[in-house]
Amino acid sequence: MKKIGILYGPEKGSVGKVANIIAKELGEDKAELVLVKDSGGQIIDRFDRIIFGISTLGRTNWDSEHEDDDWDGFFTHLKEAHWEGKQVAIYGLGDQINYPDHFVDAMGWLNEKLKKFNVKVVGFCEDEGYQYNDSEALENGKFVGLPLDEDNEAEKTLGRVQAWLKMLHEAYGF
Ligand SMILES: Cc1cc2nc3c(=O)[nH]c(=O)nc-3n(C[C@H](O)[C@H](O)[C@H](O)COP(=O)(O)O)c2cc1C
Repeated sequence: MKKIGILYGPEKGSVGKVANIIAKELGEDKAELVLVKDSGGQIIDRFDRIIFGISTLGRTNWDSEHEDDDWDGFFTHLKEAHWEGKQVAIYGLGDQINYPDHFVDAMGWLNEKLKKFNVKVVGFCEDEGYQYNDSEALENGKFVGLPLDEDNEAEKTLGRVQAWLKMLHEAYGF
């Protein structure tokens, strides 16, 4: 069976920390960690199931094809991938206390980009238990992935990750 690709960036910090937690929870033999910074679109073709990891650091060049950070660069490659039959899920790092109006927005931006390639993102989460005002990562009242807040609720990360992976496994075979 093909491994689950955990494609994430940036490398250091909370996104990287959670990528390693997810890999450990899935089992090292089942998951492969990949930095989006080092990757082209072909990386998508290596996996049937992909977990993207991203943080929200303000909107930079998301609407352009200009490469600025890890994810801006990777976006320009998304069109090179063959997306048919892929299962995709997203986790997003944010800070609900300091950015309550834009909590984990980047998950929503990524989901919008993926829609252009007809990618159906799975693993949506209820917003219960989070304190925020607004988020671009909401669709029909649900987050389009797993929101995590290492700045204010680090102690909740492992439990949230475990519950999410259980759901992804049972519903989508991750
Ligand atoms: C300049 C800056 C802007 C940020 N903007 C947002 C934001 O709009 N929404 C949000 O939820 N978190 C925001 N955050 C919080 C980060 O997403 C959070 O600290 C995250 O854990 C960073 O993960 P990373 O270090 O792996 O990139 C921001 C942080 C910084 C430093």
